[in-house]
This record gives sequence, structure tokens and C-alpha cells, in this order.
Amino acid sequence: MKYRGNWKTRFGFYFAAIGSAFGLGNLWRFPYVVAENGGGAFVLLYIFLAFFIGVPILVAELILGKQYQQSIMGVLHAKTKEHLPEKIEKKWLLLGKVAVLLSLLVLSYYAVISGWVLHFFMQFLVGAFRTESFDAAQSLLVLRQSGGLQIGLASVHLLLTIMIVLKGLQNGVEKWIGYLMPVFAILLMTLVIKSLSLENSSEALSFLFYPDFSKLSVSSLGQALGHMLFTLSLGFGVMVTFGSYMKRDSYIPEEGLRVFAMDTVISLLSGLLIFPLVFTVSGLVHKEDVLFETLPLLFGQTSGGHWFGIAFFLCLYIASLGASIGLLEVIVSNLGDRWKVQREKACWVAGGIAFLVSIFPGLSSSALGQWSYRGLGVLQILDLTIINWMLPLSALGLCFLVGRSVSRDKAASHFLLTSKPDYAELFQNWRSVIRWVAPLVIIVALLLQVFDIIRS
Ligand code: PFF
Repeated sequence: MKYRGNWKTRFGFYFAAIGSAFGLGNLWRFPYVVAENGGGAFVLLYIFLAFFIGVPILVAELILGKQYQQSIMGVLHAKTKEHLPEKIEKKWLLLGKVAVLLSLLVLSYYAVISGWVLHFFMQFLVGAFRTESFDAAQSLLVLRQSGGLQIGLASVHLLLTIMIVLKGLQNGVEKWIGYLMPVFAILLMTLVIKSLSLENSSEALSFLFYPDFSKLSVSSLGQALGHMLFTLSLGFGVMVTFGSYMKRDSYIPEEGLRVFAMDTVISLLSGLLIFPLVFTVSGLVHKEDVLFETLPLLFGQTSGGHWFGIAFFLCLYIASLGASIGLLEVIVSNLGDRWKVQREKACWVAGGIAFLVSIFPGLSSSALGQWSYRGLGVLQILDLTIINWMLPLSALGLCFLVGRSVSRDKAASHFLLTSKPDYAELFQNWRSVIRWVAPLVIIVALLLQVFDIIRS
């Protein structure tokens, strides 16, 4: 393990974990999934799942990484050698491969959306120095119709991500996310305050927080579960990698809880930012377009909206960069741990493949390669398949791995760094969730989704 590093500071882990957790999932995806599922009741379901299922899985991933000091592929390789019968070996290794593949696919389509964010950021920046008003609809049309532009912007984003990850753990990942996070927090808070001062904010607040359970559908459980896994970056093995960089004395359950708390607060803040704006414009959320259609429209119309727009898209870009850094880091560390590929080579190879894959979602929505299946483009298909199906399956595999084959004592040694009696009970509960509750919820959610498909 040539480049196994440690976080330089205690904040290194938080910056990376929160930087990776918080991304387009919170700002771009959360509002429209909430809107599609009727608002408050879905938010409640999502928070419930994040706390009772997400945190235990997050802790499980961190324990794996810290215990074996390796990324998911390295862990599985070590584990299979350690004591699993030959026959099961391939299945476990498959879990690692799926996790890495998911990271690569998400990195690719994430790059396309990050490119859209860059586009709008630049449009607002340039627009601030022009006198004529900014035409958001036209801007979106230009982007939508030009596959070349989308791919070009995605490649700029990937290059930036590669440059940062190339610098290694402490000087790249930890340092850069450390710079970006405070800027991001200040920008976000300012925007939320401004948004809440809009006329329709009370309507938006009741939509977001008033739970009307009749609005939930059969597939809401699966959608909430998938989104929760995506937004906490679970099922990709990212937290295994981050756990492997943890110092010996880090207390995993507390760290897991903090990541959950920060990520949930940020998701709710993004709801507070976006819904008042949406309700002011039309009261409607148009699928994934809310960020790129409704918001720029509003920014273009209000006085000083340009500056609001610049700040908003900068904020969004910082978030997507932090998440992309996490995604590339996990692929690079896996290639290093399992196949001993050097960091530099791994960065370029993974970034290059992500770029090639990003061509498909980039082209599919453009005039060049209009392609869709049942009205869904490549990007939406990737998003739905990965988040609603593959992530839950990968999380299920992780639960089985940690719950059934990491010995109770080993898990306890990372869980119980303190002698407080309460923690022994907490450990028991955590193990029961990982062994029974989480797998059951995941299986039920998947079955309900299957049922929904058969029914429709
Ligand atoms: N959690 C990120 C989001 O909500 O946008 C997505 C993500 C980033 C998943 C990084 C996985 C990851 F490694």
C-alpha cells in the first residue's frame, strides 16, 4: 500500500465525507424527488430512513475501511483470503466491482450535470457585465441542443477533479475540500435567507414540512431509500475508503452521526432555498428542470438577480466538485489497493473512462443524438437505475458482508472505544439493524418497486 495516507486533521474526514455527501443530490435531486412524492410526508420518510438505516450502514462502511485499512476492493480481497470459503469469494469480489462501477457511472453523469452548472454560472457571470436582460430559457435551449457543449463542459469539470485528486489525500482532497466547504456554507446561508424573505415562503414551508401521507405512492419507500443512500454516498464504498484513512482513535458512531446531521441539514436548507423560489415563479416543479429552468428564470427577472444567480451556481458547482472528488478518490484508491495502480495513472485512466461514458448522457439530450426510452434520456435512465435499484442492492450486499462475516469482536473493537455502558447497548442495536432491519427494509422497498412496475 504505497499511498495509504491519513487525514492530516480531524476535520479532514468531515470535510471529505460531508463534501462527498453534499452535492447535486441535495440541491438538484432532493427538491424534485420531494415534489414528485408530495412534499412533507416524503421528507419525513427520508429523514427516518437516513437516521435508522443510513447511519448504521455508514458506520458499517467506516468500520470496514478502518478495520482493514483498505478500500472496498482491497477489503474484499483481504477478507476472501482470510476466512471465506473459496466458493463465496467471487460473489464478494463482485460486490466490490459493482461499487466501483457505480462510482464510475455516477462520476460520468455527474460530470454532465456539473457541466450544466458551469454553463449557467458562466452565463450569469458574463450577464452581470451586460445591460440586456438574461434569457434563461434561451440559455438552456442552447445547452440542450448542443451535445458538444455539454461534453466539453463535462470534460472541463473532470479535468478539474483529476487535478485535485492527483495531488493526493492531504494536499489535494483534504485541502481543497477544506477550502471549498466554508465558502459553500456562507453562500448557502445567504441564499436561504434571501429566499425565505420572498412572498411565498410560507406556502413553500408548509409543502416541505406538512406531512400528508396520502400523497405517498407504492414506490415512495424505494425512492426515499435510494435517494438517502445516494445523498449519504452509501453503497459506493466511498465511506470504506474514507474510513481507511481514519486515525486509530476516531470514534466511528459519532462521526457517522455528524455526517448524517450535516447532510440532512444541508438537504433541508436546499429545500428552504429552492421551494420559496419555485412557488414564487409558478408553484410547479418541472422534474429535473427546476434548477436549470425555473431558478435562472427567476434570477433573470429580479433586480440584482444576476448576483444571486452567480452565487447560487457557484455554490452548486462547489458542491458538485466536492462530490466528484470523493467519487474519483474512491475509484483511484480501489485501483491502488487492489491492483497496485499508481495514483497518477489511476486518476487519468478513471477520469478518461468517465469522460468516455459521459459522452452518452451528454449526447442523448442534444439535437445530435436525440435518444430516449419511454420519454427518458440516458441521463435519467442512469440516474433511476443506479439510485433506485443498484444502490439498494449494493447496500444490501454490504449489510450481509458486515453483519454476517465481520466478527462481532472486530466490529465491537471499532464501535466501543469507550467504556460507557450505553454504548454496549448501542452496539447491539447497530448490529441488529445491519443484520436484520436494514436488509428487510431494503428487500421490501425493492419488492414494492417491482410490484409498482408490474402494476403499471
Ligand atoms: N452524495 C452525493 C450527492 O448527494 O450529490 C453523490 C455522491 C457523491 C455519491 C460522491 C457518491 C460519492 F462518492
